[in-house]
Amino acid sequence: MAKLWAGRFQKETDLVVNDFNSSILFDCRLYKEDITGSIAHATMLGRQGIIEEHEAEKIVEGLKGILKDIEDGKVEFSLDYEDIHMNVEQLLTERIGDTGKRLHTGRSRNDQVALDMRLYVKKEIKEIIKLILGFMKALTAKSRENLDAVMPGYTHLQRAQPTTFAHYMMAYANMLKRDVSRLQDCYERMDEMPLGSGALASTTYPIDRDFVREQLGFARLTDNSLDGVSDRDYCVELLSALSILMMHLSRLSEEIISWCSWEFKFVELDDAYSTGSSIMPQKKNPDVCELIRGKTGRVYGALTTMLTVLKGLPLAYNKDMQEDKEAVFGAIDTVKQCLEVFTPMFSTMTLRRDNMRKAASRGFINATDCADYLTKKGVPFRDAYKTVGRLVNQCIKADETLETMTMRDFAAISNKFGDDVYDALDLRTCVAERKVIGGPAPQEVTRQIDKIDKFIAEV
Ligand code: ARG
Repeated sequence: MAKLWAGRFQKETDLVVNDFNSSILFDCRLYKEDITGSIAHATMLGRQGIIEEHEAEKIVEGLKGILKDIEDGKVEFSLDYEDIHMNVEQLLTERIGDTGKRLHTGRSRNDQVALDMRLYVKKEIKEIIKLILGFMKALTAKSRENLDAVMPGYTHLQRAQPTTFAHYMMAYANMLKRDVSRLQDCYERMDEMPLGSGALASTTYPIDRDFVREQLGFARLTDNSLDGVSDRDYCVELLSALSILMMHLSRLSEEIISWCSWEFKFVELDDAYSTGSSIMPQKKNPDVCELIRGKTGRVYGALTTMLTVLKGLPLAYNKDMQEDKEAVFGAIDTVKQCLEVFTPMFSTMTLRRDNMRKAASRGFINATDCADYLTKKGVPFRDAYKTVGRLVNQCIKADETLETMTMRDFAAISNKFGDDVYDALDLRTCVAERKVIGGPAPQEVTRQIDKIDKFIAEV
């Protein structure tokens, strides 16, 4: 098969090289962006008199037909035409004849691929943001239903202080809010149109870059042609934002995996979102969460790939940059898939509030409250802390909890204790009294939920 560049060459491309060099198997997904970009470019060429108006129209018609046929599944791409850009151009020329050969005037595949990737990434960022917002909605809805579901909060995975399921979930909602904002930042920064950069040093044709920018809905033009074709910062930014997002999903997955275990039994996944074992009849496994935790590695891997590909690349285009595609596409696919399955799995998950409360009532998670009680009676906090430490020690030996100590036990340790200590130790009080901004008190968590719901509505 004679290549486009056959004039310069005396031999045909080796078959192994042909396949190795080709990106059509994965960049075919850019067909729509490629054709949309070419339509804007051809229209501009016609308007500027760089090609005849009727030629531009013929090209645009041809491209529209190709787009339709691709969408109807009527087009087969060929490895011989290397990538999506050359496949489309080849098809165009086959269909409309020599006029098709005018499309690439004043353009290079370097700025063409830069444009296609930006169009694609812009579209996908919007999709991913929508999916994150959907998940955030599931989090706020479940939180509203569980404002008073007391559970232990942990440090070092040791029961530490009382909180509620709603408070816990709103921590994740805030992480996801930052994920959305990181993606918005990335979008805003990358919203620049690179076509017109040519191979690297722009072009001598009197092109109208701003017209193309407007046609394609970009906010600005790239301001330097070398940068326009060399920049993949936005891919790195996207992949870091996605890595952080996956880290959050993975942490929550890990929690759900623990909470599903018999050791915790705080939650139960819906049968539709769990799997069984091929040998152990009793098993119900949280495979979805485990896969999300596992797939996080792929997204981190994509970020490392991208950073490593770019490191040490001289300006401008180098073929190494073709490696951006599989990294970016793979990460986008993984993230979307994870969000699509996480949201309904989470929404259908049921809580075992009784077990959460039971866990909260063991482990002395009200010990801080007991010390605070003494402090409020005038005892310096450090002394109160020591007194309660002794009390806890006594309880552990006697297999008691703070609430089951008698008034006499309390009095033996400090004369500051009164009958009202039982109320102070009640887990409901412990939660309700933590009403500072950020705390788990139900009315405060309601404020947090309202704020996130407002954020979701306004994105
Ligand atoms: N398939 C190539 C890529 O994805 C398109 C750009 C090719 N440019 C070139 N000068 N070989 O990066």
